Amino acid sequence: MKIVVIQGPNLNMLGVREQQIYGPMKLEQIHSQMKESAKQSNMEIEFFQSNLEGEIVDRIQECYGDAQGIIINAAAYTHTSIAIRDAISAVSLPTIEVHISNIHRREEFRKTNMIAPVCTSSIIGFGPFGYHLALVGMTQIMNEIAATQEMQKQVPEDK
Ligand code: DQA
Repeated sequence: MKIVVIQGPNLNMLGVREQQIYGPMKLEQIHSQMKESAKQSNMEIEFFQSNLEGEIVDRIQECYGDAQGIIINAAAYTHTSIAIRDAISAVSLPTIEVHISNIHRREEFRKTNMIAPVCTSSIIGFGPFGYHLALVGMTQIMNEIAATQEMQKQVPEDK
């Protein structure tokens, strides 16, 4: 089972940018912790960061037929990008959005969220720990999908 973690603009600056909001942890540290947890759950995990909207759309599209789930922090594009929203909708994979900060407690413009309505769930305001929670949530979603598929196999077909 493969999960792709997609990080939007300026998240490559974690550990440097606005530490009072995002904390001191660097993106590489977040990713190495996720890698460790994924290993324990027998999950394959890939990471992608881009500051460019089109590259994020491309990476989401590449997940189609290749990955089983997406964890995404679309960062500032969360509030503006219909293109990213449509890409998530198009691939129709279990998708969890993460925000390090509580976007509902910040500036008014951060309350607009283009992505949330097409995501399976949102994890907001837990700091970098939110990525770990997303992975736990994704494991649960994957287990539920597998259990449903198993049950469907056992139901005899109508004649
Ligand atoms: C963010 C919140 C966004 O509003 C902001 O533009 C980011 C990071 C977060 O993780 O809290 O870049 O997505």
